[in-house]
Amino acid sequence: MTFNHIHIDLARSLGSIDRNIFGGFAEHLGRCIYGGIYEPGSSLADENGFRTDVLEALRKLNMPIIRYPGGNFVSGYRWMDGIGQPEERKPRTDLAWGAIEPNTFGTNEFITFCRQLGSEPYLVVNCGDGDMREAHDWVEYCNGTSDTYLVRLRRKHGFEAPHNVKYWGVGNEVDGPWQIGFKTAREYARTATEFGKIMKWADPNIQLVASAVSLWEGNFVERAQLLIEQAGNLIDYMALHWYVGNAKDDFAAYMTVSELIEERLASYEGLIRALRLDNAITRPIHLAVDEWNVWYRANNELNRLEEIYNLEDALVVAMHLNAFIRHASTVRMANIAQIVNVIAPIFTRPDGLFLQTIFYPLELYSRTCGDIALDIGWGGDTFSGGNRSGVRTLDVAATYHAQRREISLYIVNRHRSEAQETTIRLMDGAFRGPGQFSIINGPDIKAENTFEQPHQVVTRTEQMNMDGKECTIVFEPHSITALVCKVQ
Ligand code: AHR
Repeated sequence: MTFNHIHIDLARSLGSIDRNIFGGFAEHLGRCIYGGIYEPGSSLADENGFRTDVLEALRKLNMPIIRYPGGNFVSGYRWMDGIGQPEERKPRTDLAWGAIEPNTFGTNEFITFCRQLGSEPYLVVNCGDGDMREAHDWVEYCNGTSDTYLVRLRRKHGFEAPHNVKYWGVGNEVDGPWQIGFKTAREYARTATEFGKIMKWADPNIQLVASAVSLWEGNFVERAQLLIEQAGNLIDYMALHWYVGNAKDDFAAYMTVSELIEERLASYEGLIRALRLDNAITRPIHLAVDEWNVWYRANNELNRLEEIYNLEDALVVAMHLNAFIRHASTVRMANIAQIVNVIAPIFTRPDGLFLQTIFYPLELYSRTCGDIALDIGWGGDTFSGGNRSGVRTLDVAATYHAQRREISLYIVNRHRSEAQETTIRLMDGAFRGPGQFSIINGPDIKAENTFEQPHQVVTRTEQMNMDGKECTIVFEPHSITALVCKVQ
């Protein structure tokens, strides 16, 4: 067994945590909407057609924000096809995924769904084959209060009060050649500026998310530069996307993914900082990692992307959440892609659902996260994987809940077979009372939850007395631990 240390200093704050880092993403793709969120006629559906078992599982994730309707789908989406009476809905070919989109679930269904969950809706406009007038009109339909055709239409559809949708994305993955209406750096900088400008004419209070990077090769510096030079006084977030996976079945290499996340976040933070300075932009521009997850083995039959996750994937999801906490001052939104069935923590069939391994870290962090991110020190055992060496075996983040005077410490033990003995020291003050340990683990790194064996990987809780300045804890191999304890 190796010896590790974690030093916590409550005075070393990294800033407040924006709970929007626990956001989600729902796309018209596979069975995310139809057969996932929405299944009118099912015995499990409520009066709005929403699956009540899915709602119940999503409530446990307590997502403050949900992004919709895509994804690649949005770059061919006509929002007006999805409003009005059933006979007004227009089935269309979905150009992105090759399906027939019935449009029976649209803007009002999505916003109703979000309100039922207590989540903020975040809508992405089509700047692929859509135009800026369409984008402006969607904002007006949702948020307008003047006596216009579009506001009357919303009222006719049963929504007298404006929806007040605060977050709006301008396009999706525009840097990817796979995107309908893929754009060069120069084209997108112009598009974001003009779309953003007139969307804000419809409602000046909206927050704009610009599509920044999904490809991560070649020209993301140039893209950021042109975007901030032209739209830096308009946009509020730059959206980053990535998916990771263990395609080579190399556990050690997979566990170093934290370094990639760190490199991407740190370099993008620096880039924005430099560009804001260079362009005298004093308002903040945040990062929104508005699509992230593990995605590589995908069952691509009919473009369904029904990934089944295992324990090592759950460790990687926890590492992402640790990174978002460590970068709390810049990462002000993150959206797990996606929420149901499609590369998702919840998996349904007509008669029920099971919770995937990755559900558990999402639930645990969302439930226990404090409101301030702490800059902690940690070290000890290291490992090598892929082309990286000297990577710390533990991946650690911590938060503080000021009102409750409570620390939440998150530890991922990436060792495949060895427990990690660790001394945790509080630099000022002392732990008080019992610590609550929530541990996510399973029999093996490849353990999966399925309908047949739904509880292979779950969270279990234990208590331990923590009184004093220092304690020694043993973290199980291939596990995630959240330790919550009061301090005085
Ligand atoms: O989430 C699945 C797809 O991944 C999204 O449609 C797209 O934005 C990304 O490439």
